[in-house]
Amino acid sequence: MPRFNEDLIKSASQGTFIKDVRFLEETESTNKSALTMAYHGAPEGTAVIADAQTAGRGRLGRLWISPPGKNIYVSLILRPAIDPSSASQITLVAGVAVAEMLNTYCPGRIELKWPNDVLANGRKLCGILAESRVTAEKVEYVVVGIGINVNMEPGHFDESIREIATSIRMEAGAEIPREEVVARLFWSLDRIYRLYLETGFGAIREKWLDCSGMIGKDITVSSPDGLVKGTVVGMGAEGQLTYLHEGKIKSLTAGEITIQPGAGE
Ligand code: BTN
Repeated sequence: MPRFNEDLIKSASQGTFIKDVRFLEETESTNKSALTMAYHGAPEGTAVIADAQTAGRGRLGRLWISPPGKNIYVSLILRPAIDPSSASQITLVAGVAVAEMLNTYCPGRIELKWPNDVLANGRKLCGILAESRVTAEKVEYVVVGIGINVNMEPGHFDESIREIATSIRMEAGAEIPREEVVARLFWSLDRIYRLYLETGFGAIREKWLDCSGMIGKDITVSSPDGLVKGTVVGMGAEGQLTYLHEGKIKSLTAGEITIQPGAGE
């Protein structure tokens, strides 16, 4: 499988806020590469795309398995003029952009799982990892890393995740050129990120709730106090997940949740 057609992707980025696209054949992690570039002053709108990652980073120290020729591993440098307390909203902004883009390949089957998973038919299709440098006064930069399973087939996934992962190819039933997916991703990110910067988080929250199948679901929350069960109510104005626990509304700003299968599922 050849590497990316770089010219196609560069021309798709024209007119968007993505002004510089760097291609790497292999890197440890596009997030790590982009964080180094951001630290040295790379501007907003710099993207790093790799054909393969040797130590792709997932949330909570997990590994994101990143073989060559099959998927998209991209990290974007953002320098949003937002309050540092809002930095975690960037993951939700990216989630909405990815979900709206993936809906063109898997209409009606895409769901967002708080805070950063994009699922198709309940299986993970994309993961998002935002890493940032924030001071008390400002957000210096946020690197948003997006991993999308594009042309993986069941046998390509590690056995440990075979039952819980999927790809665009598995959902749409056809091989999809990765350049096309990157182009659609850039357009969607451009539209949603601009909406966020121009109007604030409210419109993103509405879209996120439209794409989420979580409302009313029973969940288990991993919190510092241990495992807590609850029922999802919605999303707070700042992006926190709200859930009902023992008759009280609680809100979660960070953490890991598991959705309990509903009756009959
Ligand atoms: C997760 O769901 O745990 C987040 C996975 C994020 C993976 C992407 S792939 C591109 C970017 N580079 C990384 O090292 N991680 C993110």
